Amino acid sequence: MRRLSFFLAIAAIALFAQPPVGDAPGSIAPYLPTPNIVVDEMLKAAQLKPGETLFDLGSGDGRIVIAAASKYKANAIGIELDDALAASSADRIAESGLQKTARIIHGDLLKQDYSSADVVTVYLWPEANVKVSQLLDLQLKKGARVVAHDFEMGPWKPAKTITVPDDGTGRSHTIFLYIR
Ligand SMILES: C[S@@+](CC[C@H](N)C(=O)[O-])C[C@H]1O[C@@H](n2cnc3c(N)ncnc32)[C@H](O)[C@@H]1O
Repeated sequence: MRRLSFFLAIAAIALFAQPPVGDAPGSIAPYLPTPNIVVDEMLKAAQLKPGETLFDLGSGDGRIVIAAASKYKANAIGIELDDALAASSADRIAESGLQKTARIIHGDLLKQDYSSADVVTVYLWPEANVKVSQLLDLQLKKGARVVAHDFEMGPWKPAKTITVPDDGTGRSHTIFLYIR
């Protein structure tokens, strides 16, 4: 019995010592995927056009990047800090044959250059959005569109707010469109 308790204690320590996905050092938001129906609405709201450049800040499993490149023929770049998510999303891009127009930068989204962006998508926490809005204020070209899921971009005033009704996940979602 004592041996079993010891084993369970070691197993629990090993389990909880693993950082959850999205909790890498420097992470400013955990991993929570945007439902695909909301991804579609975000890209529609951004009026993303073929050949435009989209950045997804904290790209998770790459679903926004893949949708932007495959459905909208955009040049899509995801920035992802988490090792496993960066690797698996890059694999998904390769499996989809989208390497020419989609890629993942494995790094910190607060240390990138977004001056070429036509569209930026964001699904991060409110405090993170404040930091991102300050960075984008310095970098974005005039007319760039920023689409945020669920949380506003700090002090910015949205040009449009869209509610996506409950998609079966038990809650509705809000999309904020900004034009800089
Ligand atoms: C809420 S998820 C959004 C994922 C994806 N954009 C989507 O909408 O499905 C936030 C993502 O940001 C990533 N992340 C958090 N801090 C980051 C940082 N400093 N640099 C790059 N990625 C980061 C997390 O690992 C996570 O995958």
